[in-house]
Amino acid sequence: MSASFKIATSTGSYAVTVERKLFDRVLIESGDRVYIADDFFAPIFTARGIDAIMLTANEHTKSLDRMTDVICALRERGVTRKTRLIAVGGGVVQDVAAFASAIYMRGIEWVYLPTTLLSMADSCIGGKSSINVGKYKNIVGTIVQPLEVLIDPDFALTLSPEQKAEGLCEAAKICLCKGLSAFSDYMALNPNINSDSVELERVIEHALAQKAWFIEIDEFDRAERLVLNFGHAIEAASNFAISHGIGVGLGMLAAQHLGEILGRDYRKLPEIAQFRAHIESLISAAPHVRDVLSRLDTAALMDAFVSDKKHSRTEYIAIVLTEAGSVERLPIARDESGTRAIENAFAAMLAHYAYAVA
Ligand SMILES: NC(=O)c1ccc[n+]([C@@H]2O[C@H](COP(=O)([O-])OP(=O)(O)OC[C@H]3O[C@@H](n4cnc5c(N)ncnc54)[C@H](O)[C@@H]3O)[C@@H](O)[C@H]2O)c1
Repeated sequence: MSASFKIATSTGSYAVTVERKLFDRVLIESGDRVYIADDFFAPIFTARGIDAIMLTANEHTKSLDRMTDVICALRERGVTRKTRLIAVGGGVVQDVAAFASAIYMRGIEWVYLPTTLLSMADSCIGGKSSINVGKYKNIVGTIVQPLEVLIDPDFALTLSPEQKAEGLCEAAKICLCKGLSAFSDYMALNPNINSDSVELERVIEHALAQKAWFIEIDEFDRAERLVLNFGHAIEAASNFAISHGIGVGLGMLAAQHLGEILGRDYRKLPEIAQFRAHIESLISAAPHVRDVLSRLDTAALMDAFVSDKKHSRTEYIAIVLTEAGSVERLPIARDESGTRAIENAFAAMLAHYAYAVA
């Protein structure tokens, strides 16, 4: 099976193709190209005699400091403005490659092959790069669309249940943010940590169709797309011991607690209970999470939450579910009662994970 669709942007459109064995096909193509790849795939590039720029996928790798090494590696390989950059990896490789392609010689073309479920089902479209500076996560970046996105669902064959859970947290988020019927259609695909690559292919196509709506209507991340920004505080407060995808899952649970603390009643919507149970079951695939959370307190979470770029000087911006099941960016005054509501939401999430989950 293969699927192809286009993403419309202000500068034209680009194709997204979902097809098995695409990676093998790309590797035998020739032309002026340079690879930036996750070092998980180093043996494949070495076996084919390809001198790829290899990256270890972690948050340090996508820091502004480390971009110097990447830019020098491109120059040392003789990359010019006519060279095509091909990125093979998850969100970290995507962020580095997209950022490098935007700034190297003021811009070169890039093609992306996402390899984690999170990147296949979510981050691969939209053209965003997000780079860390000091303790600030994703604080600088660019929006430059790729020439093409090539998704080979067989990359899922080597993903662990936990890595699948991370991707499914993001996929569930996108679908819920799009609306309850998109979320129900997602659940009808029975996504779970044991789903095989054929089942995940359908999840990827469905999640990308929902994400496409957000990025086409809000290419530059100024309005509708902003509701997709959940959970960075938890990932950062744990010093990245909690992955991005699981952090998003926990952030969505904290957001539900916040909605309830603010007096919202979700009991009328069975989808919300279903969403919560689904996210909790995905998080249980990451057994170390409970341990990490038991060492965190609300002060550490608040510290990370406050440093998020979403907020203004006078208001926090929280992403919260409405009683009708849609997702909104809710301004909350940065006063004592606003701060306490957010602290209590984090405390409720921590209490659930640190003590209540067996
Ligand atoms: N730019 C965006 O739009 C965007 C969106 C969401 C997330 N992100 C960023 O993406 C990052 C998280 O990315 P991620 O979750 O995709 O993973 P990742 O890039 O952090 O990689 C996680 C792990 O998966 C391994 N891996 C990659 N492909 C594999 C495969 N096929 N089989 C087995 N192991 C594999 C890597 O080696 C690494 O150990 C975060 O830094 C987040 O901020 C960016």
